[in-house]
Amino acid sequence: MVKDICQELVLNHEAIKEVCSCLQEEINRGLGKDSNPEATIKCFPTYVRELPNGKENGRFLALDLGGTNFRVLLIELGAKCTMDSRIYAVPQPIMVGPGDGLFDHIAECLASFIKERDLGTELLPLGFTFSFPCKQEGLTKARLACWTKGFKCPGVEGRDVVELLKQAIARRGDVRIKICAVLNDTTGTLMSCAWKNHNCRIGLIVGTGTNACYMEKLEKVELWDGSTDEPPQVIINTEWGAFGDNGCLDFVRTEYDNTIDRESINPGRQLYEKMISGMYMGEIARQVLVRLVSDGLLFGGYASDILLEKGSFFTKYISEIESDKPDDFNNCRAILEELGFNDATDADCANVRHVCECVSRRAASLAAAGVAVLLNRINEESVTVAVDGSVYRFHPHFHNLMVEQISHLIKPGIKFDLMLSEDGSGRGAALVAAVASRSASMR
Ligand code: GLC
Repeated sequence: MVKDICQELVLNHEAIKEVCSCLQEEINRGLGKDSNPEATIKCFPTYVRELPNGKENGRFLALDLGGTNFRVLLIELGAKCTMDSRIYAVPQPIMVGPGDGLFDHIAECLASFIKERDLGTELLPLGFTFSFPCKQEGLTKARLACWTKGFKCPGVEGRDVVELLKQAIARRGDVRIKICAVLNDTTGTLMSCAWKNHNCRIGLIVGTGTNACYMEKLEKVELWDGSTDEPPQVIINTEWGAFGDNGCLDFVRTEYDNTIDRESINPGRQLYEKMISGMYMGEIARQVLVRLVSDGLLFGGYASDILLEKGSFFTKYISEIESDKPDDFNNCRAILEELGFNDATDADCANVRHVCECVSRRAASLAAAGVAVLLNRINEESVTVAVDGSVYRFHPHFHNLMVEQISHLIKPGIKFDLMLSEDGSGRGAALVAAVASRSASMR
């Protein structure tokens, strides 16, 4: 039966609680000085120690690398925030080609944006949102620990990406910029929401990848080597996508997860991310569908050529199929037609939808487990979680599924809400740059 086969993807409360306790332990290990080298969740301090107060102002440039697209933005902070941006493609060969090629491409896009918008005469402060695991050594120094998602440019791991960007800009010699901050997209998301919402303590991304950051007390961060001035806190970029890389999630992983991992660009890494994020969700669903066909339980036992191609079932299909009303299959049928199934029955459609639901529920439950662990750690009465990313944004039930699951997992007395954070990578980058210059001028 279809339901029996999908059962493997269903996590019961006990399993989720077990995930929470492992995750909690890995975060502790990440924060501990002696345990950090072995920890999977690296908990990188970001050097962002203050949240915005809503009064930040000025004009800023931002670069955003690490989601689906590369973007250059011009942000104006004041009573309101206005933004002008342009999206540039990052061609696949650049994503996996030499590091210098990637940074030359970024510098070229930046230069053409500055020329187009006629910004050449001002030396605007720039925030660089670089959404990969980095060991930061300051607000403007971030060494890439390892590539994630679809990137794999040789010659960058272990290097300071701000330096690489400066070198690429110097090679061109036609633009001048002042890099004021380098940050992760989770940090940008938290800052962007905290600008107007003073309870915000967590930034979460469920998009191409997944990750979270949160405000931690300095006394809990054994690795901290920066100043111990007020405020005694720092945003920690958990890099929780790597959770499970030591085998601790194996009890919930399935054959589909193994295949995805084996065929990925980074086998053995980012195992939690591979169960949750948009880069992989569609492919998990496709694998389950192929399995159901080969067991004769779907489409009369015949797969189309398209369905058999890796990557052909896009993650956005899951959002679209689950957006159909309970008793119709309009989107589902249209998608199945694109995949080469012209005469799917109602039963086929219902089964396809069930597969999608199992995959997205599991992702939402796992992400919720992570958020619950952070809420319990922060242990404040009322916390806002800033969220961004294509999966959270476009899946019709992801928000509700997460809220429901988190409620079952947090300590009594804690209140929380999940808030869509508009444009963390742009506004957030500007805010980090703005808060940094404020803190510097107060010292
Ligand atoms: C990956 C990256 C991480 C980023 C996340 C969401 O997990 O390693 O830095 O925050 O994707 O974009």
